[in-house]
Amino acid sequence: MDYDWEHRVNTTSGTVGWRERLLGVFHSPYQPTDAALFREMMASLPIDFRQFTFVDIGSGKGRILLMASEYPFRRIVGVEILPELHRTAVENISAYTSPTQQCTQLEGVCGDARDFHLPEGPLVMYLFNPLPEAGLTQVLANLQRSLHQDPRQAYLLYHNPLLEERLRGCRWLQRIDSPNQFAVYRSDPGTSSA
Ligand SMILES: C[S@@+](CC[C@H](N)C(=O)[O-])C[C@H]1O[C@@H](n2cnc3c(N)ncnc32)[C@H](O)[C@@H]1O
Repeated sequence: MDYDWEHRVNTTSGTVGWRERLLGVFHSPYQPTDAALFREMMASLPIDFRQFTFVDIGSGKGRILLMASEYPFRRIVGVEILPELHRTAVENISAYTSPTQQCTQLEGVCGDARDFHLPEGPLVMYLFNPLPEAGLTQVLANLQRSLHQDPRQAYLLYHNPLLEERLRGCRWLQRIDSPNQFAVYRSDPGTSSA
């Protein structure tokens, strides 16, 4: 609520309608990432943000997209399966004003993350438990294929990593940090075929 009040947006889970709540049971319920924790996660990335595109898998109402725009990413994209949440994310992107915003290339895509075509260039992929295990496996396979076809740096930020075993099982990913509430993985160019 504090975040929404401060930025005049609507990203809280408290105002999600009953229909989206019900659908959330079948996908994964919308819950936004805490702003302070997000800053901690960003600080753990040893990257030049200007070269990277940030991708939020399951972007909900788009709070992560707004928070990521406080960093000088090349581009920011979120994919969300529920149309109502996606619409709110698009409204939030338009409404967001911040004197410290560093990236204005923000885009919300409505669709299934399992079918999402990953953007070119170095990537930061953000996961806050958007998918059950089979879906996560598919997203990881898509990422591996994309990196194999177009070798480039990729980082995964996994918030509340309930299914971290899936990432640990990927030999093409290397865990570089794992504080309490999140894990950071990296794939270097040329390792994605491993
Ligand atoms: C825990 S919320 C995270 C929201 C946002 N990433 C954040 O951290 O603030 C997970 C989101 O994933 C979405 N989701 C679930 N399955 C999905 C899928 N297959 N494709 C895209 N989005 C999905 C849900 O609707 C929900 O909005």
